[in-house]
Amino acid sequence: MNKDCLNSIPLERFGQIIPRRRGTIERASNEFPKYEYNANVLAKELHPKIQHVIVSEIEELNGAKRYTLVPDKEAGQEKLAYFNAGQYISLNLKIGDSLLTRPYSLCSSPKEALDGKYQITVKTMKNGFASEYINTNFNVGTKLEISSPAGFFYHEPLRDKKKVLGIAGGSGIAPFISFAKAIADGTEDFDLTLLYGSRTKEEILFKDELEELEKCGRVKVIHILSDEEIEGYRHGFISADLIKENMDENCSIFVCGSQGMYDYIAKETQKLGLTRKQVRFDAYGEYKLGERDEAYVAANEGKTYQLTVTMDFETVTIPAKTDEPLLVAFERAGLKAPSRCRSGECGWCRCRLVSGNVYVPEKIEGIRQYDKLTGYIHPCCSFPCSDCRIYINCEE
Ligand code: FES
Repeated sequence: MNKDCLNSIPLERFGQIIPRRRGTIERASNEFPKYEYNANVLAKELHPKIQHVIVSEIEELNGAKRYTLVPDKEAGQEKLAYFNAGQYISLNLKIGDSLLTRPYSLCSSPKEALDGKYQITVKTMKNGFASEYINTNFNVGTKLEISSPAGFFYHEPLRDKKKVLGIAGGSGIAPFISFAKAIADGTEDFDLTLLYGSRTKEEILFKDELEELEKCGRVKVIHILSDEEIEGYRHGFISADLIKENMDENCSIFVCGSQGMYDYIAKETQKLGLTRKQVRFDAYGEYKLGERDEAYVAANEGKTYQLTVTMDFETVTIPAKTDEPLLVAFERAGLKAPSRCRSGECGWCRCRLVSGNVYVPEKIEGIRQYDKLTGYIHPCCSFPCSDCRIYINCEE
């Protein structure tokens, strides 16, 4: 800026700036501004802590029920959070005195979430505390609190191939229905071949729907029946040979089913030389102690330990059985401990073990090294080996 230019600026105006600003500040409201930054609004829409929904429709399937959930406008819920095909929501439930959560994969298309609709499928499991409660007590009009969509079981174009081999067992078909719908409506851009194992033809879920979805030309379904031999269906289990027959080098493998099925598929894929990176397993819910936990079970069978739990600065002492994760002990005692996946993956239940010892099955991979070093545990997959002192949502 040259000297002539400077001379042309009326400098007396600068002297008025500070008094003018002071006046503006004094006249301003004491209340915080009502507007929010767009990024914050978007983050809240995508990841709300809680969503209020209402059951709008229930459909009977073979041994399972499909629930349609819509926003509960009376509770102030106007829309539903978007999700990636393959993700789950966690239901907050109160059964008797227990406060608990249960994760269920969404079996609707992400596009339907934009129209205010989620769907989940609940199969009544043998000794299934929550599934039996849900399928007996949920009616059209039942109000629920659910989490935002979560989980890592989705197709990521930067990481995953354009061809996916899906392996599903029983109600593990749910996230693949979401995949197939998203492919058919153009939300996802990959080809899906699905090996779907059921015990009998009668037990196949979504059979007609899958046939309809195959018409898009990018979804192919092969049914495998373990307990029946019927023309047009494969018989047996989803073996290494069957996987090899339907995969090519350029595909990603996604697996969803029971814990027993995961152990079996892990062995079959190892036979083919596939690594854990190439085979993605969905979170399988609560860990069940089995053969590989023999040493822990032998040392602790039938025992009950005492947990002194401080949660939100209130302390209680509660019993913990050794055949259940600590999270179940919290829930039985009516503590509203945070949780979502219940399988050590999400970290939502993370809390501090101040004293005592717990057993964490080797198979659980979601615990960070830092947490191990600093005494944090995931109670959804930790079993007591002694009396314990635990802090949830608070520090000393
Ligand atoms: S609930 Fe997800 S890690 Fe425990």
